[in-house]
Amino acid sequence: MLTRNPTSILTAALTAREHLDILITTLTANPTTDYSSTIDPTTKRAILKAARDISRAVQTPVENLFETVFGIYDWAALQAAVKLEIINHIGPMGGDAVSDEEVSKKIGKSQDHVHRILKLLAANDVVEETAPGCWRRREMAEVMLHPVVGSFAGGMVGRLGHFPTTIGNWLEENPYPTKTFDCPFTRAMGATFWEVLSADPEEAARFGRGMEGLSNIDASVPVIKEWLIKNGRTEGVFRDVGGGSGWIDERLAPDFPDITFEIQDINPQQWAARSSSLPPSLHRQLTFTPHSFFTPQPPSPTPVIALLHRWILHDWANTDAIAIIRNIVPALEQNPDAAYLINDNVLPDLGEWEPFEERSARQFDLVMMSYFNAKERSRAMWERLLREADERLEIVGVTREGGMAAMALIEVRLRKEEVKEEVKEEAKEAKE
Ligand SMILES: C[S@@+](CC[C@H](N)C(=O)[O-])C[C@H]1O[C@@H](n2cnc3c(N)ncnc32)[C@H](O)[C@@H]1O
Repeated sequence: MLTRNPTSILTAALTAREHLDILITTLTANPTTDYSSTIDPTTKRAILKAARDISRAVQTPVENLFETVFGIYDWAALQAAVKLEIINHIGPMGGDAVSDEEVSKKIGKSQDHVHRILKLLAANDVVEETAPGCWRRREMAEVMLHPVVGSFAGGMVGRLGHFPTTIGNWLEENPYPTKTFDCPFTRAMGATFWEVLSADPEEAARFGRGMEGLSNIDASVPVIKEWLIKNGRTEGVFRDVGGGSGWIDERLAPDFPDITFEIQDINPQQWAARSSSLPPSLHRQLTFTPHSFFTPQPPSPTPVIALLHRWILHDWANTDAIAIIRNIVPALEQNPDAAYLINDNVLPDLGEWEPFEERSARQFDLVMMSYFNAKERSRAMWERLLREADERLEIVGVTREGGMAAMALIEVRLRKEEVKEEVKEEAKEAKE
């Protein structure tokens, strides 16, 4: 049987106690039921790590392994509950519970099976059984049903969400995949993710809402806003390349009345679904142009202050990512003061974070693998990619958002006139 070092368990217990003491002191001084939205990210990480370490320590390695192995059934129960609208039909959080007999009649599915699915969801705190066979939603189920916040989670457990389980089969057949879209998703659907969205306006609109919904667990809007203010970029054109529904521009626009936000995307459906509900005050400030980022940026009569790629490059394998970046360069040449902003994950280097803290970023990396054969990148990988696209591109700043996965704002500049300066220097020397 496997044995473990007792000191590591003791260390985990001592660390957990230390964090629990801090938590108890904080909550005693400021009692709140909504601690999760006020806790600072560093304390949150420390507490999560302590809780995780202690849970690992009190379980045997076999139990720990099985937690991961059987995790797929947690996903499956949620998937079934969403697909069959079980969670729509049980009682609301804090309201009257509904019996599984009633739910099963409404949705026309076996009560026994509905009951068993709900039981596993209850074990995962998604729903609550208030009396035998009577159910109501808990917070996670309410989030799942939220039209914006729940959209991304809905997509991941929806008809476009089951591909990660075939990563192993795909790599067995294609041991060295290098091309974007040579991936489990395309293999199963016979079309790329973007093609599937183009053919399905409802799924496209849901995806657009999902992107926005994810903003509840990261801090892209405040970080971009701060960048614009700090750098005095409050007038001109801000291009959101591959901007989808333009939700980020809609949130930024009210604070920057002299900036025109130009949203470009190949799929106009996400924007169409959103723009109909845009407040009239923003109609002048937000524009949409159908545009493929595989073609060069069009010239702009008004100075461009920044070009944004938010969650674009992580959808593409290196060769395509390089082509996409190269199409930004002409706009940087025409607008020498413009910044190229990449808002994407920046994976930590080995040892920079605890492995447990990397979990969400690594899950996203495998999302990119299964949907696109694309990837998340570390700072060194971003630097290499940019250099390969154009020697003059350099990272001048990386601001971590501190939230979901490893989201960061990478500021890139095109080094100015470097060659010409060298040539001038040589000419000067020759003259002397
Ligand atoms: C992951 S989403 C990110 C959307 C948005 N930037 C955000 O952060 O919410 C990627 C976007 O790239 C768009 N896209 C895919 N292929 C494209 C292409 N060839 N040209 C322009 N946009 C494209 C998709 O329609 C989608 O809106």
